[in-house]
This record gives sequence, structure tokens and C-alpha cells, in this order.
Amino acid sequence: MNTVREYAGAKVNLYLDITGKRTDGYHEIRTVMHTVALADEISVTASPSHTPVVSMTVEGDTFLPTDTRNLAVRAAEAFLVASGRSLAVGIRLKKRLPVAAGLAGGSSNAAAVLRAMNRLCRKPLTSARMLALAAGIGSDVPYCYVGGTALCTGRGEILKTRLYAVPRWFVLVSSEERMSTPHAYAALDAANADFSAPLLPDTEKEAQLLAALRDGEPLPPLYNIFETAVLPSCPRAAEAKIRLLALGAERALMSGSGPTVFGVFPSQEAAQRAGEDLTAAGYRAFVTRTAE
Ligand code: C5P
Repeated sequence: MNTVREYAGAKVNLYLDITGKRTDGYHEIRTVMHTVALADEISVTASPSHTPVVSMTVEGDTFLPTDTRNLAVRAAEAFLVASGRSLAVGIRLKKRLPVAAGLAGGSSNAAAVLRAMNRLCRKPLTSARMLALAAGIGSDVPYCYVGGTALCTGRGEILKTRLYAVPRWFVLVSSEERMSTPHAYAALDAANADFSAPLLPDTEKEAQLLAALRDGEPLPPLYNIFETAVLPSCPRAAEAKIRLLALGAERALMSGSGPTVFGVFPSQEAAQRAGEDLTAAGYRAFVTRTAE
């Protein structure tokens, strides 16, 4: 029996725009994703078995499903089918990230399981095959498989990865509010006439952001198209964004389909002070940094 451990990092979207809706119901997105050090911990154990079987246990969030509704289980099953291995796989998840919060927690767990399985089985599949498997599990899973700073397009699965970014300090703030991704997309469709006319991407904004990240310069205003559709129904998150700015964040934005908001801070001390203030105000605040 072999066990490997992987970290499943949270991501924040530093830029997120949508340019249209496809005939398959997915949206064409352009987003700059950035992995932070805050992470769930996954360990995967595999032993030979007559029939392939996957089980899962969760520590830290008892409400998460541990069957095929969980993307981590689906990832392990997809890997077993693709690699033709007959293994009994046990997944242990230590959950730290808030769930249904716009941090890609579920996708990141699935990606960590794919990395772990690939290591356990001594990499039987090519990187291209692994990324295709990841895309079959969810739009954010290919990015989570690679991590770092990336520009993601298509439905999120077309990646320009390993973009250099000078490390920064972040405070991620979640409240008791929750927002499922399909629900957020439905709210966005309603607010944008179903994207019946395709929009032009603002590649200038994107380029300015990527240059500032690379050079460690002050960040230009950040943008997430979901904010106007989601924040009005999540008043605690909307308030947290205002507080982050008042507490000295250089920039603040909602991440992904929300409702977690984050602030980018000029120093660890400033981030820690803001985290303490937000915790005192009843939020779950996580002080973290660009992932190594
Ligand atoms: O790909 P994934 O299963 O994570 O997507 C979940 C849901 O989010 C989809 O069913 C769809 O409603 C929405 N979605 C979308 N456009 C994307 C990504 C996700 O409409 N680019």
C-alpha cells in the first residue's frame, strides 16, 4: 500500500471577464488565476484490488459528500479508467478552504487527486492526457492541476501557464453566504441579456495586470464581471470588500463566482491587521500569500 500527499491550493481570480455564451451552455471566459498558499491537504492511498474502488473521508467539513458528487472521487475514478489500473483508492481530505465560495476548492481537490494518482502509479499518462482528464471533470480543474499564475480562456480549460508574478500578500474573506457556480452564471445571464451579442475582450486591461504582476508594480484596478450580478445578493461579502479597502488593501475584488472577496496588501503586517479586524467583525478571514 502506498500513500502520497498533495496540497490543494485556493485560487483567486485577479481578472475575470466573459465574452459570450456558447451553444453548449458554457460561457467563453478570460481570466487571470493566481494560486495562494492557503490550501486543503489531500492524501491518497492505493493498493491492488480485484475491482477498482474509490472511497473518501473528510476532516474539517462534515457536510461535503464523499461519493461521486465529490469531484475528488470523480477524478480518482477517471484516472483509474484512463490508466486501466485496478486499485483500491482511499482519499483523505483535510478541508480548510470555504466551500462554494469562488476559490475553486472542489476543483483544486480533484486536481490534487489527479497529481497524487499519477505519482502513485509512476506517471503512466502524458501531461496532455492528464489535462484532458482534468477538463472532463470541470472547467477549472486543468488550471488547478498546474497552479501558479495563468491566463485561462475557452470555458477556462485553455491555459497559458507559468506567468511570472512577484509574490504578494492577500486576505481572503468569507462569510456564511454561499453561491453555487451555476447559480452565479444564471444571475450573470439575467443581468446581461443572456450574452446574445458577443462582447470584445478588454485585452489591454489584462496585459496591464500581467505586466504589473510580473514587475511587482502597483496593480491596476481589478475586474470581475460576476461582482455586479452576485454581490447585491451577498451583502456581507459586499461589506467585506468595502472593509478590506478601508483597512488598507491596495485592491479588493470578489473571486470567481463568489462570494469570497479578497484584498491585496502591501505587507504581511498590514494583511495581518486587516485579517484580525475582519475576524473580530465575524468573518472568516485568511491571511495568505502567493503560493511558492
Ligand atoms: O465546468 P464545471 O462543471 O465546473 O461548470 C459548472 C457549471 O458552471 C456549468 O454547468 C455551467 O453552468 C457553468 N459554467 C459556464 N461557463 C464556464 C464554466 C462553467 O457556464 N466557462
